[in-house]
Amino acid sequence: MKLRFLTAAAALSALVLAGTAVADPIVIKFSHVVAENTPKGQMANKFRDLIAERLAGKVEVKVFPNSQLFGDNKVLEAMLLGDVQMAAPSLSKFSRYTDSLQLFDLPFLFRDMAAVDRFQQSAAGQKMLSSINKKGLVGLGYLHNGMKQLSASSPLRVPADAKNMKFRIMTSDVLAAQFEAVDATPLKKPFSEVFTLLQTKAIDGQENTWSNIYSKKFFEVQPYITESNHGLLDYMVVTSAEFWMDLPDDLKGEVKKALDEAIAFGNKVAEDKSVADKQKIIDSKRSEVISLSPAERAQWVEVMKPVWKKFEDQIGKDLIDAAYNSNN
Ligand code: LMR
Repeated sequence: MKLRFLTAAAALSALVLAGTAVADPIVIKFSHVVAENTPKGQMANKFRDLIAERLAGKVEVKVFPNSQLFGDNKVLEAMLLGDVQMAAPSLSKFSRYTDSLQLFDLPFLFRDMAAVDRFQQSAAGQKMLSSINKKGLVGLGYLHNGMKQLSASSPLRVPADAKNMKFRIMTSDVLAAQFEAVDATPLKKPFSEVFTLLQTKAIDGQENTWSNIYSKKFFEVQPYITESNHGLLDYMVVTSAEFWMDLPDDLKGEVKKALDEAIAFGNKVAEDKSVADKQKIIDSKRSEVISLSPAERAQWVEVMKPVWKKFEDQIGKDLIDAAYNSNN
């Protein structure tokens, strides 16, 4: 027995000496908070699959959906500690790292996703990807989800309907100001808690995209959804500067290429789901979808738009103007 062990050990060291020992692949843990059947969930899985096809044995992507590994308020800290290598938090969740990304939370800034795309792909939009560099993070690209809608326990047609209601928001002061503007109470809570907060009536409403409202079943516990399209929910795919710098150049190029392809795929999923998931919610008859008349919508714009001025100094007027001009 002992002899056999010694022989095996000798064979192993001979292999190592000959340089043929197989190195472990570099592991990219990709953590996110949404379901797999969402734009971000599909993008992350596509990225994993492309890397498996092209870099097998060299790089491996492990995806952790549904806040399994880290909740949205912890993931960036964990990334800086090296406990996770990639994530795509909503642009609303970067306020501890940069002021400028607050731009994307301003209510009624973008008319549609085409305008969002034009701005994000412009020089000014691309520059914002590096706004988190000083904090040790690297922005690798934007990913779409879509426009947010308001869900609530009672119908919201005009801003006065939201008065004194409690809304869950992401960790963003702009979003807090947006709900304060309609005399509602905003509560910053992690995404993983939203369903229970709604179900137990600890809160009255929340804002999210059709795909998040559908995949997390918010529509089953919110009898009304107002199609307000009042704000944007988009993401930035991020990694840590340390991880990115240590990745060998040839692999980095391949990883970035696969990621860009996965993002393009995710953006297409986002476009499709903004229509399909809305329809599934309507078909379920669990929640009434309320369309706003132009006059009703104008009231929301009027009360929420002063939020822009409040954050102008932090975000920069030039940036707000550039984003707004992308609507043309
Ligand atoms: C939310 O917290 O509502 C969203 O950011 C979740 C997500 O990542 O889409």
